[in-house]
Amino acid sequence: MTDPVIAAATKQIMTCRDMGNVPVVRTFFDDPTFTATHVVHDPATMACAIVDSVMDYDPASGRTDHAMAQEIVDYVTAEKLKVEWLLETHVHADHLSAAPWLQERLGGKLGIGESIIRVQDIFGKMFNAGTRFARDGSQFDRLFSDGTRFMLGSLPAIAMHVPGHTPADMAYVIGDAAFIGDTLFMPDYGTARADFPGGDARTLYHSIRRLLSLPDETRVFLCHDYKAPGRDEYAWETTIGAERRDNIHVHDGVDEDAFVKMRTARDATLSLPNLIMPSVQVNMRGGHLPEPEDNGVSYIKIPVSGS
Ligand SMILES: [Fe+2]
Repeated sequence: MTDPVIAAATKQIMTCRDMGNVPVVRTFFDDPTFTATHVVHDPATMACAIVDSVMDYDPASGRTDHAMAQEIVDYVTAEKLKVEWLLETHVHADHLSAAPWLQERLGGKLGIGESIIRVQDIFGKMFNAGTRFARDGSQFDRLFSDGTRFMLGSLPAIAMHVPGHTPADMAYVIGDAAFIGDTLFMPDYGTARADFPGGDARTLYHSIRRLLSLPDETRVFLCHDYKAPGRDEYAWETTIGAERRDNIHVHDGVDEDAFVKMRTARDATLSLPNLIMPSVQVNMRGGHLPEPEDNGVSYIKIPVSGS
């Protein structure tokens, strides 16, 4: 059975490559959180999208900073780019989004997957966020579904729902470039974990197989890199062909049960990301700090449990 979203994305990727109508991608890597922020632009119109930005955060003091985001402002300004989109691939658990801060300075519409509503429900309950926290995705300007088409300047783009790491993960295929969030990592590092609330290894396998059915030539941009053993440099760009051939967790030939067994066993050994508590509480609000309390101060909560 053909997958209409994959068919549409494949046509888009091949047409854009044939016509030379391809985006320029500049990546900013945040070492403390191992996050790659991509600024992707259409050279014909200079329209750009900022994918998965990072706000600096010191957990000991609770202080935010925007040095990383300022680098992006400087680049966008120097290159005379026009920000049309601020895209989040998902509610990140390892860094805080700088999207609202960037939006205030550069404009653009903030987008995420429509299943954010499910993620807001899960984390809203977990953090007892109260009635002031709207769980309807209204913190975002655009909620994408699987197959939503949009434009970046003159470049066609299509959103894909790729759940598994979280229920709301999206991939954005812009021209011939796929921004795939936390699904696949570099071929020598493997795949994203699937043990966060709402995550599921079997669902992740299906999302990854969908991504791997895009054309081999598709340029692939990742959200994270952690340097694989034996590799000294961070890397964030690969291709579907390289992932199909070489991904250590899920290359062609690895079946669903084998992947789920490997992923589940590996996830059981991983500790939680350092910034999971602030990240989730800020990112579920579209990158905004929690609503201030009656003294005007925002607080990050930590649910405490004993054994
Ligand atoms: Fe993530």
